[in-house]
Amino acid sequence: MSNRLLAVVTGASSGIGEAFARQLAVRGYDLLLVARREDRLQALANEISRAEGVSVESMATDLVTDEGRGRVAERIRNTPDFGLLVNNAGFGAVGLFHQVGLELQDRMHRLHVLTTLTLSHAALENLAARADADGRCGIINVSSVAGFEQSPSNVSYCATKAWMTSFTNGLAIELAVAKSPVKVQALCPGFTYSEFHDRIGMDRSPIPKQLWLTAEFVVRESLRGFDRGQVIVVPGWRYKIIAGFMRGMPGALMRRISARMTQRFRKSKV
Ligand SMILES: NC(=O)c1ccc[n+]([C@@H]2O[C@H](COP(=O)([O-])OP(=O)(O)OC[C@H]3O[C@@H](n4cnc5c(N)ncnc54)[C@H](OP(=O)(O)O)[C@@H]3O)[C@@H](O)[C@H]2O)c1
Repeated sequence: MSNRLLAVVTGASSGIGEAFARQLAVRGYDLLLVARREDRLQALANEISRAEGVSVESMATDLVTDEGRGRVAERIRNTPDFGLLVNNAGFGAVGLFHQVGLELQDRMHRLHVLTTLTLSHAALENLAARADADGRCGIINVSSVAGFEQSPSNVSYCATKAWMTSFTNGLAIELAVAKSPVKVQALCPGFTYSEFHDRIGMDRSPIPKQLWLTAEFVVRESLRGFDRGQVIVVPGWRYKIIAGFMRGMPGALMRRISARMTQRFRKSKV
């Protein structure tokens, strides 16, 4: 294996993906940056390659489409120095399940589930065939603390993120049984400053300031966890406590709490 590995980061044009691109370049990875906004990717690629001296390529594509997803998967499968995949591209949608257009939720499942599935398959096919894969190699799936719960007006988001976390746990077991050096991680952040909430028109002010994380911090924690081989990473002590409660809570209690929140949400919509 050459000294320099390629890291593929989806959703690299803003927020957490952009922070991954910057920090992975500092760690010496060459980069393939993927998202739809070509101008943003190109500007970031130029900036990072100048600052860090690594090779940075951008691929503007829509990962919701079979064609876009297929292009990235082909590239991962056929790159001899491929090392790390960050499945980060994602978005939210607010509203009760039956009120949010099915087309939008279909797109969300294609991006969070089908893209993660397809690109992870390509990544592990590549890495499993190489005897020289080492501890820098693997997959980071950007899930969410929302994957530990079911919250009103967020049903598909929570379900797709729960899938990402469960999928990652499954891969971790298979890799451990195979005694592979390849690592997988589900990164489960809470509220993080990025364009995510602007895109869904969400007012940040009702959320206490202490609960907001920066993308730089989230990615630092992820990569620290990756070094240690941590499979589930929840950045920030407050969210570690919250996630601990969520994960330990009986399903019936979780549903009762969520139902109360749903009633409150409905009242506020009347
Ligand atoms: N912010 C939070 O509070 C939070 C908390 C937990 C988990 N997360 C997760 O973190 C990940 C990154 O989100 P963020 O907070 O950094 O939000 P963001 O700033 O909105 O970034 C989302 C990224 O995904 C890309 N993307 C969206 N749809 C795409 C598509 N169809 N094809 C290709 N790329 C696409 C966007 O780029 P283009 O628009 O250029 O395509 C952008 O680069 C998401 O998976 C999100 O669910 C966020």
